[in-house]
Amino acid sequence: MLGAAQERARAALPTARRRIAAALTGRKERAMIGDGRKTDLIASLNDDLAGEMGAVIQYLTYAAKASGPFRPELAPYFTGEIADETAHAQYLAGKIVALGGEPMTTPRPVPPAHTNRAMLEAVLAAEHQAIRDYTTRLAQAEAYGDVVLRVQSENQIADETGHAEKTERILRDWPV
Ligand SMILES: [Fe+2]
Ligand SMILES: [Fe+2]
Repeated sequence: MLGAAQERARAALPTARRRIAAALTGRKERAMIGDGRKTDLIASLNDDLAGEMGAVIQYLTYAAKASGPFRPELAPYFTGEIADETAHAQYLAGKIVALGGEPMTTPRPVPPAHTNRAMLEAVLAAEHQAIRDYTTRLAQAEAYGDVVLRVQSENQIADETGHAEKTERILRDWPV
């Protein structure tokens, strides 16, 4: 014969088991959501990395192609951006590996441009895309709880905004 207290304990057992099972399932679901966020973040950072590698190639080739009386100004202008974009690519590749991902090695295609003006406009479009992408990344980093990635995204937005504003000012009074 079981005492009343033992009867109550036995009756409560399935409820307790259900609660434990529900808690474990919840934890698993939260872990899966976390994994999904990390996978999305790595994929996004890889897209950014492709963009930065594309930017390095873009500035390098445009510097070679700049022509005419403005070449002495434009070639060093394009070359001067390579260091910033390389630093961004280096940071992103390191971060992808730190998160457990594999850095991609295929750059984003560089748009063909055959005049100084077309090259400046293509550069401006790429910088604007980078600003939009890092603004999204900033929010993703915030949601993921990675303060350093959030700060780095802010810094990269500042760098790309500087690049875009310099290019806009050159284009503003472009003679032809
Ligand atoms: Fe960049
Ligand atoms: Fe840039």
